[in-house]
Amino acid sequence: MSRSSATLALVQRALWLMMMLMLKAVSPQNAGFVKSPLSETKLTGDTFELYCDVVGSPTPEIQWWYAEVNRADSFKQLWDGARKRRVSIDTAYGTNGVSVLGVTRLTLEDSGIYECRASNDPRRNDTRLNPALTWIRAQATVTVLPKPRINSSDDVVLPTDSHAPPSTLQCNLTNTHDTHRESYWTKNGEEIPGTRGNQRNTEYRINKPRSDDAGEYMCVYTFSMAPPVNATIEVRAAPDITGHKRSENQNEGQSAMLYCKSVGYPYPIWTWQKLDNGLYVDIDNSSGRFFISSRDNYSELNIVNLDISLDPGQYQCNATNIIGTASESSILRVRSHLAPLWPFLGVLAEIIVLVIIIVVYEKRKRPDEELDVIPHVFPTRKTNSTNNHKEKNLRQRNTN
Ligand SMILES: *[C@@H]1O[C@H](CO)[C@@H](O)[C@H](O)[C@H]1NC(C)=O
Ligand SMILES: *[C@@H]1O[C@H](CO)[C@@H](O)[C@H](O)[C@H]1NC(C)=O
Ligand SMILES: *[C@@H]1O[C@H](CO)[C@@H](O)[C@H](O)[C@H]1NC(C)=O
Ligand SMILES: *[C@@H]1O[C@H](CO)[C@@H](O)[C@H](O)[C@H]1NC(C)=O
Ligand SMILES: *[C@@H]1O[C@H](CO)[C@@H](O)[C@H](O)[C@H]1NC(C)=O
Ligand SMILES: *[C@@H]1O[C@H](CO)[C@@H](O)[C@H](O)[C@H]1NC(C)=O
Ligand SMILES: *[C@@H]1O[C@H](CO)[C@@H](O)[C@H](O)[C@H]1NC(C)=O
Repeated sequence: MSRSSATLALVQRALWLMMMLMLKAVSPQNAGFVKSPLSETKLTGDTFELYCDVVGSPTPEIQWWYAEVNRADSFKQLWDGARKRRVSIDTAYGTNGVSVLGVTRLTLEDSGIYECRASNDPRRNDTRLNPALTWIRAQATVTVLPKPRINSSDDVVLPTDSHAPPSTLQCNLTNTHDTHRESYWTKNGEEIPGTRGNQRNTEYRINKPRSDDAGEYMCVYTFSMAPPVNATIEVRAAPDITGHKRSENQNEGQSAMLYCKSVGYPYPIWTWQKLDNGLYVDIDNSSGRFFISSRDNYSELNIVNLDISLDPGQYQCNATNIIGTASESSILRVRSHLAPLWPFLGVLAEIIVLVIIIVVYEKRKRPDEELDVIPHVFPTRKTNSTNNHKEKNLRQRNTN
């Protein structure tokens, strides 16, 4: 009896669970924001995107609305392609409704309040009802400020001689909206220490310009209320090869590596050539054993499986940019496979020579030895002669 009541209780509980699940699946769930759009400040010409992510059952419908900051009572709906196609709306409905509002090529008039509205209320399209009752809403304020302009000095080409005059790079900020600002300089993307300041006009002085001062310089202005702006000034110089491998010695079958690195800007185009009858010519890669890898101010030539008859010689790296060209040469020596064996072979040869000497010496010595042992040898000689006799007899018998 206790058993059947327990089963009954289990079945009841299972039925109740199933009912709850069915109810949950069927009963509508009000729309709610998972992610709502965030306020931001942008500059004219830039782009912004606002995100809206809503849950609900059935999946809520999403709309975007806009109002000018001082007229928050007069929202107008935004459509994909509005404002001369600068507005885009991408919405996907799955278990959630997700929508992205994008506005490109911002103008000052794009400032305002952007609102994401979501609803799964069946009465949501009823114009007699106040939308505030049937739609949930999330707002973001987008502020568009005039983009500050930077009047920067022109690109510079550094002369190659060592007594180049100092060079001054300038940036003047114009059209600025925000007095709280800071500026600094970067070279090749890295901040130059000690260049921070807070003036509208800033300059960076290269006192004794050399090739390695060449690079991409940038002045950057940061603001408390707006995104940073920057201007780029290129300081160009002909390449100068500041490091290379003068020589490389390897055994045949092994690999060789030659490299060159340069200063100068823009980064050069690298080529490698080989000296052939007094002329540098393109490397013959028909064997597919030559590999060149170049990156910015560095180039590497790798030769695998060295060939003693083809590969030794003089190689040259060539760095060329729009300002000038430079090259350096390296010597590759390839030793025979047997090279590491030479010390061993030398010892072996010595041993052989020694053995020969000993043998020759021994052979020369033998007659003296025989003289020494004559008395003892006599009887044996006798036996020998008797043996010979016997042999002779045997032979004679055999012939008979
Ligand atoms: C409300 O209107 C939108 C189009 O604006 C339509 O896609 C949607 O199905 C309508 N919803 C209801 C419940 O009428
Ligand atoms: C930028 O500088 C040049 C001279 O270097 C000047 O002629 C020009 O008017 C300046 N532009 C602005 C917007 O200040
Ligand atoms: C920046 O301003 C200074 C002072 O007003 C002026 O001498 C300089 O020519 C300006 N530079 C540029 C690049 O406009
Ligand atoms: C410089 O400005 C450009 C364009 O506005 C931007 O893409 C870049 O990230 C800025 N660079 C730095 C270092 O601020
Ligand atoms: C070569 O360029 C890298 C960045 O690409 C830089 O870190 C390095 O200092 C440069 N080397 C020389 C010799 O200019
Ligand atoms: C040489 O040939 C190999 C194999 O075809 C190739 O992978 C390599 O890039 C070539 N090297 C050069 C410098 O062209
Ligand atoms: C480097 O190669 C370029 C193009 O082949 C050539 O014009 C230039 O003279 C070479 N530079 C040197 C220093 O050999």
